[in-house]
Amino acid sequence: MPPLPPDMAAIAVRQPGGPEMIELVRLPVPQPDAGQVLIRVRAAGLNRGDMVQRQGHYPPPPGAPQTMGLEVAGEVAALGPGVTGWAIGDPVCALVAGGGYAEYCLAYAGHVLAVPPGLDMVAAAAAPETIMTVWTNVFDACALQPGETLLVHGGASGIGTMAIHMARALGSPVYVTAGSPGKCAACLEVGATAAIDHRAQDFVAELMRLTGGRGVDVILDMVGGDYIQRNMAAAAHRGRIVSIAFLEGVSTSVNFLPMMLKRLTLTGSTLRGRAVAEKTAITDTVRARIWPLVAAGTIRPIVDRTYPLAEAAAAHAYMEAGQHVGKIVLTT
Ligand SMILES: NC(=O)c1ccc[n+]([C@@H]2O[C@H](COP(=O)([O-])OP(=O)(O)OC[C@H]3O[C@@H](n4cnc5c(N)ncnc54)[C@H](OP(=O)(O)O)[C@@H]3O)[C@@H](O)[C@H]2O)c1
Repeated sequence: MPPLPPDMAAIAVRQPGGPEMIELVRLPVPQPDAGQVLIRVRAAGLNRGDMVQRQGHYPPPPGAPQTMGLEVAGEVAALGPGVTGWAIGDPVCALVAGGGYAEYCLAYAGHVLAVPPGLDMVAAAAAPETIMTVWTNVFDACALQPGETLLVHGGASGIGTMAIHMARALGSPVYVTAGSPGKCAACLEVGATAAIDHRAQDFVAELMRLTGGRGVDVILDMVGGDYIQRNMAAAAHRGRIVSIAFLEGVSTSVNFLPMMLKRLTLTGSTLRGRAVAEKTAITDTVRARIWPLVAAGTIRPIVDRTYPLAEAAAAHAYMEAGQHVGKIVLTT
C-alpha cells in the first residue's frame, strides 16, 4: 500500500437541491480514531437515503462525515489505535454512517466484512447496507422462518433484490411488487416466486389469489401511505409488517381492526443512526449467518450500473429516474 496522500477526491453538495448541486472536491484524507480503519475506497454503493440527504432532509448522525455514502468496498489503508483482526491491504467492505463517496473512508472495525474471493469490489460495495437492512428488519425484527412467506414492496430496488436473494437462500418463498412489467420480469429472474405489477393490479387481491386466501407472514414495506392499510389486508394471521421508508407518505388514516383480529405486529426501524455497538452486533450476525452464503455465491448483490465517482450527479439522476433494477455503484 503506497503512503497516504494528504488529500483525496470526494463528492460534496453545494447546497440542498437536485443532482446538479453535486460537485467533485478535494478533502483531507481522514485519520482513523481508536477502533476505526481507513479504507482506500474502490467502490461505493448508492442508496435512496443519499437522495434525501442531498435534498437536505436527511442530515448525517452526530459524528458522521457530511459526505454522502453509506457503504464502501476497498482495501484497508490504515488502522486506528487498538484495532485488531485487520491488516493493511485486506480487501474489505463496510457499513458506514457517511463518507463513502470519496477515495478514502473511515469505518468502525466492527462494521467491516472481509471480501471473499470471487466477489468483486463493485458487488462488495453493494452488499453491506442492503444485507444489514434486510437482516435486521426481515429476519431479526420480523423473525421470518424457513417456509414462511415474505412480501417485498419495491422488489426491484437495491433492498428488494437483496431481500429476494436472502429470503430464497434461507428457505422462504418471496412475493414482490414492482412498478412495471419489465421490473416484474427482472424480479422473477432474481428469484421471486411471483411479481405483481402494482400499477396494473391490486396487490392485495393478487396476493390473496396467489396464497389461496391465507396472506403472507412477513411484509417489508418502503412505500407507506395507503399501503399501511393494504398491508394489513395482505398479511396472514399473526403476520409481521416492517416499515423501512414511507416513499408515498408518513400519514394516512388507518382502520386498526385487522391488526387486532389477525394479531399482527407492526414495526419499523432505521439503520444509519444506530449506536456503534448495535451495528457491530448486526455485522457479527451477518458475518456468521449470511456471509458464508455470499462467499458461496448463493446470495449476491444485483448491480444495475456503475458510474465513476466524478459522475455521481449522473448516478443520482439515474436513481431518481427509477428505472434501475438492483444497485447503482460509484467507482474510484
Ligand atoms: N430504514 C432503513 O434502515 C433503510 C435502510 C436502507 C434503505 N431504506 C429505504 O429502503 C428503500 C429502498 O432503498 P434502495 O436504496 O434500495 O432504493 P431504490 O433502489 O431507489 O428503490 C426504491 C424503490 O421504491 C419503489 N417506490 C415506490 N414508491 C416510490 C416513490 N414514490 N418514489 C420512488 N420509488 C418508489 C420503486 O419501485 P417501483 O417503481 O418498482 O414500485 C423503487 O424500486 C428506500 O426508501 C430507502 O430509503 C431504509
